[in-house]
Amino acid sequence: MSLYDRYILPHLIDFACGMGEVMQARAQIVPQAQGRVLEIGIGSGLNLAFYDAQKVSAIVGVDPSADMQKLARERAARIAIPVEMIALELGQIQAAAASFDSLVCTFTLCTIPDAVAALKEMRRVLKPGGRLLFCEHGRAPDAPVLRWQRRLTPYWKPLAGGCHLDRDIPALLEAGGFRIGELQTGYLKGPKPMTYVYRGWAQ
Ligand SMILES: C[S@@+](CC[C@H](N)C(=O)[O-])C[C@H]1O[C@@H](n2cnc3c(N)ncnc32)[C@H](O)[C@@H]1O
Repeated sequence: MSLYDRYILPHLIDFACGMGEVMQARAQIVPQAQGRVLEIGIGSGLNLAFYDAQKVSAIVGVDPSADMQKLARERAARIAIPVEMIALELGQIQAAAASFDSLVCTFTLCTIPDAVAALKEMRRVLKPGGRLLFCEHGRAPDAPVLRWQRRLTPYWKPLAGGCHLDRDIPALLEAGGFRIGELQTGYLKGPKPMTYVYRGWAQ
């Protein structure tokens, strides 16, 4: 791992993912979680403050980046819900089938190398009737923006920890075996290739 990936990138991601409208989008999604929650790609823990302690009994946060998790541990210490952090990729954890009531995945499907395999694993560990709550940036509906997303992704990926700008989030969810229950889409403030967001829930 390069010095950039280790020491600079976690702080850049924490800064970019902690900006105003991004935090507002989290505030709409994360409080819907309940019971035992798995957060996939917990990163620096920017969602932690939005969980409702009356509804959530425990959070398990999975993320292969120990450096991101260092920041998440500081945030976990400030909330009233027990948080277990696992420094692995989702596919490497030993979770029993149907062992989580809610899954939370924000700004992570862009980065997981095999997002469909990860979604299939999410489906396996989610209890029947449980929800995957998601907020993800991805493929824009406007052809000129999509062209820029495709042009920029090869340069953006190494700078942004493997992030793809042009992933078709609804198609990935469906390929992973999920049915979308609610979906809101739109641009947040900022450069259009980076800010087209899909949020909602799937089962
Ligand atoms: C852009 S960050 C978003 C972090 C956080 N979810 C948020 O909303 O601020 C993407 C995260 O996905 C994590 N990630 C990458 N591959 C993963 C995998 N296979 N399983 C779980 N997390 C992964 C990265 O380490 C990184 O922390």
